[in-house]
Amino acid sequence: MALLEVSEVTVRFGGNVALDDVHLGAEPGIVTGLIGPNGAGKTTLFNVITGLLPPNVGKVTIDGRNVNRLSPTKRARCGMARTFQRLELFSLLSVRENIRVAADVHKGWARDGSNPAEVVEEIIERVGLTAVADARVDSLPTGQCRLVELGRCLATKPKVMLLDEPASGQSEAETVIFAELLQSLAAGGMAVVLVEHDVALVMNVCARVNVLDFGRIIASGTPSEIQNDQAVLSAYLGTGS
Ligand SMILES: Nc1ncnc2c1ncn2[C@@H]1O[C@H](COP(=O)(O)OP(=O)(O)OP(=O)(O)O)[C@@H](O)[C@H]1O
Ligand SMILES: [Mg+2]
Repeated sequence: MALLEVSEVTVRFGGNVALDDVHLGAEPGIVTGLIGPNGAGKTTLFNVITGLLPPNVGKVTIDGRNVNRLSPTKRARCGMARTFQRLELFSLLSVRENIRVAADVHKGWARDGSNPAEVVEEIIERVGLTAVADARVDSLPTGQCRLVELGRCLATKPKVMLLDEPASGQSEAETVIFAELLQSLAAGGMAVVLVEHDVALVMNVCARVNVLDFGRIIASGTPSEIQNDQAVLSAYLGTGS
């Protein structure tokens, strides 16, 4: 069983089936991609995994533990962290303060002897925000705000990190650095799930890719398997025969 396991998840909004019998696994040590056209259900799936939205049917497990009945906060304590497609930062706080909030919350749970101030400085350096650490986040461009959300995730020392379009708003140069960062985080033992419209980034960093289309997983495999999958080419890239 994968570290994060999603099985048989179905979500209906009235008559609209946003997710239809979705299965997905994420393993530590790799980046797992989740791609699909606008409205395919990617963010809805993250909302189900993190407990913001109860599914009509289905199960989410971490480390074999069923977390269906746990609140988002309790799931975070189990090692889940996420970023948001529509950034959810404390806009009046600085970069350092935003990450510190998460480090302090984690310290309250973990009582692991770590020093939140030191943890925050390490993270700021790791995600490349040293130059803007004291800036209020509402003064920063979107690309850097996404790094603040990533840093906030890291401050909770997650086992599984769910990133919803984290490169959106980044320049090409920033995306190159970001790709290396994601791979090094996964190499450190985390399970990273990446939702991204930048297909080149997904194919570059993901060991496995899942494709959602109209709420159904239509393909799962390595990047090269996905790039040659006829169903994916026609449904997602629109270039199939
Ligand atoms: N709270 C909601 N109430 C009703 N319908 C919703 C709700 N949230 C999402 N939907 C619908 O569910 C479907 C999936 O939406 P979702 O936001 O998960 O797609 P997505 O794959 O993340 O798209 P995008 O790439 O544009 O972010 C869409 O048809 C959307 O309109
Ligand atoms: Mg979305």
